[in-house]
Amino acid sequence: MLNDPVLTHDWHVVALASELQEGKTMAVRLLEEDLVLWRVGEKICAWQDLCIHRGTRLSLGKVENETLACPYHGWVYNRDGQCVRYPAHPSQQPSERARAKVYRAREKYGWIWVCLGEPANDIPLFPQWDDSSYRKVHCGPYTYRASAPRAIENFLDITHFPFVHQAYLGDPEHAEVNDYAVETHENGITASNITVWQPDPDGSGQGANVSYTYRVYRPLTAGFVKSSAGPHFAMFFTITPVALDLSRVWAYVAVDYNNLTDTEIREYQNLITLQDVPIVESQRPELLPLDLQAELHLRSDRTAIAYRKWLKQLGLSFGTA
Ligand code: FES
Ligand code: CO
Repeated sequence: MLNDPVLTHDWHVVALASELQEGKTMAVRLLEEDLVLWRVGEKICAWQDLCIHRGTRLSLGKVENETLACPYHGWVYNRDGQCVRYPAHPSQQPSERARAKVYRAREKYGWIWVCLGEPANDIPLFPQWDDSSYRKVHCGPYTYRASAPRAIENFLDITHFPFVHQAYLGDPEHAEVNDYAVETHENGITASNITVWQPDPDGSGQGANVSYTYRVYRPLTAGFVKSSAGPHFAMFFTITPVALDLSRVWAYVAVDYNNLTDTEIREYQNLITLQDVPIVESQRPELLPLDLQAELHLRSDRTAIAYRKWLKQLGLSFGTA
């Protein structure tokens, strides 16, 4: 397990809640820790994926009668992670030490979140989730063979739009960005009213300026709202730090208009993401440099500068250099 002083105590999405079915196990990986997920109704179990007897993966086992049985010698664990039966010695009371390593797990926004330590913060607020004027469309997960902080910084970066997303989110002839304001507060970063030109922001076929406001909620969770004259397009974006060089990106698009279907929104987002992935995977060094002297910055990079400073202030070590 990668023990980062910040991420160990943060909540991380590890799975889509709808994919964790009762009676089944699911194997996931978080901060290089292999986890088995299983559920009993609302109760979600997230354990180290390892049987204490001989180190077998519990995710290969069987869920039955609100217990999980190891596939190797059939030790039966209850939902609290305590072994309650050794099949080879049915009358022997299992030792208290015969326990799975149990982590905290919660379901929110249709995702399963896990914390490997003591949660230092609540799961971040997705502002549009309870706002019925916004339709939420799930996108991803997307795999990036890159560090999670590099991938978050790409999400926060607006000046790549005209180049990486030419004809979709920008145009090289209109690449100028205004001098926007960034504020770092106790609970993250806000970058307000970043104005850029887009070829067709509202489906009318006309280019126009749009305005983005970004929020960074936690080191690996962020969002934005984009507003043009009419419609709003928001995103909530969070990354599973699977390993130093492996990230899984989960996102919701939230829109307050109806002229695109869920499938169209998802396909659009898949296309935009596929444009970002090779760029982010190509970045060197792989780990995000927190020393501001290490790379060059422009005024328009002030969100990234604030992000790097904030990570340094928090003491994040994972995925950074
Ligand atoms: Fe799990 Fe033996 S390894 S019961
Ligand atoms: Co992009």
